Amino acid sequence: MTSIWELANARLRHLAVYEPGKPIEETARELGVESGAIVKLASNENPLGPSPKAIQAMRAASEHAHLYPDGGGFYLRKAIAGKLGLALENIILGNGSNEVIEFLGHAFLDLDDDVVTSQYAFIVYRLIAISFGARTIETPSPSFEQDLEAMLDAITPKTRLVFIANPNNPTGMLISQREIDSFMSRAPENVIVVFDEAYFEFLDNPPDTVQFVRDRRNVVVLRTFSKIHGLAGLRVGYGFARPDLIEVLQKTKQPFNVNNVAHAAALAALDDEDHQRETKRVVDAGRAYLYEQLADMKIQFVPGVANFVMVNVGDGAVVFEKLLRRKVIVRPLKGYGLREWIRISVGTMEQNLQCVAALKEVRRTGG
Ligand SMILES: Cc1ncc(COP(=O)(O)O)c(C=O)c1O
Repeated sequence: MTSIWELANARLRHLAVYEPGKPIEETARELGVESGAIVKLASNENPLGPSPKAIQAMRAASEHAHLYPDGGGFYLRKAIAGKLGLALENIILGNGSNEVIEFLGHAFLDLDDDVVTSQYAFIVYRLIAISFGARTIETPSPSFEQDLEAMLDAITPKTRLVFIANPNNPTGMLISQREIDSFMSRAPENVIVVFDEAYFEFLDNPPDTVQFVRDRRNVVVLRTFSKIHGLAGLRVGYGFARPDLIEVLQKTKQPFNVNNVAHAAALAALDDEDHQRETKRVVDAGRAYLYEQLADMKIQFVPGVANFVMVNVGDGAVVFEKLLRRKVIVRPLKGYGLREWIRISVGTMEQNLQCVAALKEVRRTGG
């Protein structure tokens, strides 16, 4: 029988499948416990859940599940634009911001083009580049900071997209406004600069990248409802850019990529500032607690600013398994070439305590 690889797109042969955080249900099944006993700190989700207003909106919207959603996303795009001081034409909705990354690949990448990003940048940029036959140039990041000067130098005549995650996942490191402005003052006009701001709402001093969209630069900014808004399971994210750039991206989009329950929930969540504030408060307190405990245990960590922390545990895969046996799911980072490290999402204080207790036990008993 002929191998399917004689028929399949050869680029997919070496494309690793994205490995998501281990699901709660799977872990509960494997350990033979109730899913309520599992603490999942593996996917940077909102520990408080969705906003109560979003839940109410979802219930109401589910009554209309027999109807196709508004493919134009009128109300949600208008509401997002209103918050940003932009117009509806500046906004595109995605099935998660991941889908907008894919639109960028469809719209701008061809065989043998280059994508520039940083070592340890969010892995999806590389996966998308591979699937479109583009080469990924990753600039070194020995201290986990993204070096925008090096990224500028790495741009070639074949570079179409530059991906800058700010703050980055899994490092949590933030790039300053000064560095961004300096980069943008020299970025060539013929590349698209993508600022991925999935964790924007957790920042005390958020960068201003909307200015570049207003100035009609070749910039796309990505944000999501998966993190502070607590709607990761619904899959809603968005990008904003100048209208003609958005028009190009729209051509790559399936007509009904965001469902109507997600539209309603996102619209309600966007206005629930109490929930966003409370989430940030819980995350700030939880992150400070984790930092204090890790310092106490003399465990190295990267002092990030998002809702997770990258921790050097010696052997990430082994500690991941040991924590799993103690009903705590974290994220091993070997896919990033960070074999010594795990990433722990900030949970509720109760979850953080449970995670720290498990980590202490693993270190004490070694088992
Ligand atoms: C930096 C970054 N960008 C994008 C995403 C994708 O988020 P979503 O597709 O859920 O909007 C994530 C999710 O973890 C992320 O960490």
